[in-house]
Amino acid sequence: MIVGVSLFVNSCYYDTTEDDVFIPDDGNGTELSYQNDIIPLWSQCVACHRGDEPPDLRDNVSYDELLNGYVVPGDPEASILYKSLLGIDGVSLMPPGSKWPDSKINAVYNWIDQGAKDN
Ligand code: HEC
Repeated sequence: MIVGVSLFVNSCYYDTTEDDVFIPDDGNGTELSYQNDIIPLWSQCVACHRGDEPPDLRDNVSYDELLNGYVVPGDPEASILYKSLLGIDGVSLMPPGSKWPDSKINAVYNWIDQGAKDN
């Protein structure tokens, strides 16, 4: 019984470590559109990010707001926005307490990687 419990605890420990390393998928190079693919994602953020709490992620201002310090075009790993979706490098996890599915994180990663265009 004791052996069983310790194996279980150990396997949980290793699972957690693996989950912390996010390996992006390039989506086969399909170009993403800020309007069509990215803006709809912010519907899960605007409850809090609607002016008082930066970045303002409301539809008409989110692009300018994000490019003003939260996104480094072509460099997701250096972008606070991407870090916030993983909760790494001292940036709080967004949305707070409930990490997005990989597909959404990938979309943001690829949009930034493709130059963070206003398309
Ligand atoms: C429940 C409210 C809430 C929701 C929902 C939320 N945020 Fe936040 N967000 C905050 C608060 C509060 C802060 C500032 C304090 C902090 O960093 O923890 C913040 C900070 C941030 C920052 C700045 C981090 C920094 O270090 O400068 C980014 C980027 C961000 N949020 C992105 C998002 C995105 C993208 C979403 C949707 C996926 C989201 N947030 C959803 C409350 C929220």
